[in-house]
Amino acid sequence: MNAMRNPAPRVIAWAKAGLFMLALLPLARLVWLGFSDGLGANPIEFITHSTGTWTLVGLLATLSVTPLRKLSGWNWLLRLRRMLGLFAFFYASLHFVTYIWLDQFFDLSAVLRDVIKRPFITVGFLAFVLLIPLAATSTNAMVKRLGGKNWQRLHRLVYVIAILGVTHYWWLVKKDITQPLIYALILAALLAFRVLLKVNFAGQGGLRKPSLEK
Ligand code: HEM
Repeated sequence: MNAMRNPAPRVIAWAKAGLFMLALLPLARLVWLGFSDGLGANPIEFITHSTGTWTLVGLLATLSVTPLRKLSGWNWLLRLRRMLGLFAFFYASLHFVTYIWLDQFFDLSAVLRDVIKRPFITVGFLAFVLLIPLAATSTNAMVKRLGGKNWQRLHRLVYVIAILGVTHYWWLVKKDITQPLIYALILAALLAFRVLLKVNFAGQGGLRKPSLEK
């Protein structure tokens, strides 16, 4: 049990390497299917859906770190969070590039029209734009430069981004809302956990030092 709470640095390095490989699997799958004619009748739709799904999964996985850490006492999970967040950004970028390149053929006026006129695109676009400063300030040097408090404040945007991401999905589905509902419920649970944590924290007199948590 102690080994799980305080794993050796070597174990954490392996966990990071494993997570990195795991997070590349959806991309590897797309490349494989692309070369083996496996993307179906509408490859653009397939790629858009896959990259969109993995962006959302990446965001929710990032937000799961704090609850998992608090519940298990495995503080080292925090060391995986940056990579999870960056993978969410990576798949969001692929998702956006697929849309702008393969869907809209770099017709920027058509993109702008879409962003203004189609609410699900508006919120998706906003979520992506908000992710950029988080990815840009994800390094240790940027945490230092901004100062822990400011950095923490800025990175709270991830809550807004996740809500926009789920809304984007909810608004784009036409009939069966089961999938976006599942994501919405998971997000609601992850956010509720934080509210409970805060209430509990306040109830204890707020004596604990704030940490760099999202
Ligand atoms: C954090 C940002 C974003 C997240 C989390 C996200 C997530 C998703 C998800 C989960 C899907 C549906 C996948 C499925 O059906 O299985 C999707 C579809 C889509 N997204 Fe995004 N998205 C984001 C940003 C964007 C942006 C910036 C654009 C374009 C400006 C965009 C355009 C689209 C389009 C065109 C579809 C397909 C719609 C359809 O099939 O009718 N998304 N996205």
